[in-house]
Amino acid sequence: MAEKLNISNTTDKAEKYESLLPQIEALLLGENDLVANLANISAALKQAMNFFWVGFYIVKEDQLVLGPFQGPIACTRIGLGKGVCGIAWERNETLIVPNVDEFPGHIACSSDSKSEIVIPFSDEDGVKLILDVDSDQLNAFDELDAKFLGRIATYLQLKNS
Ligand code: SME
Repeated sequence: MAEKLNISNTTDKAEKYESLLPQIEALLLGENDLVANLANISAALKQAMNFFWVGFYIVKEDQLVLGPFQGPIACTRIGLGKGVCGIAWERNETLIVPNVDEFPGHIACSSDSKSEIVIPFSDEDGVKLILDVDSDQLNAFDELDAKFLGRIATYLQLKNS
């Protein structure tokens, strides 16, 4: 495993992802512990993409429970259909929220969070994980983020929704 991420200084988002994702894939090679892998994915995304908050919620029975993340402290449990994460889980659908203040039911863990993208990672039995990325800027995420971030599911041997 490389000791350091090779962080591209391009301002082009697609180029950044193109450079980062193979490194994330390599980070996970030979390690099948889920928590360890989610921890390194969160750290790599935070470091390379400079997201305000990035991390995972893990489906446990009827709730999402906070998993590895990077950023300010966050709420630990989210119910099905609650907040952006709970709705993405319920619908098994990626949600891009340009302005969290305009999303009914958004759970505000930090008032600095302005926009977010939430991607469910599922296997054949349904949603297993939620990847949640928050920005302190409005309108920070689009289909490009959905496409590239969704690829991470395949490195975890999960297919994207
Ligand atoms: N944004 C989420 C809550 C989790 S935190 O932002 C980390 C939501 O409304 O589902």
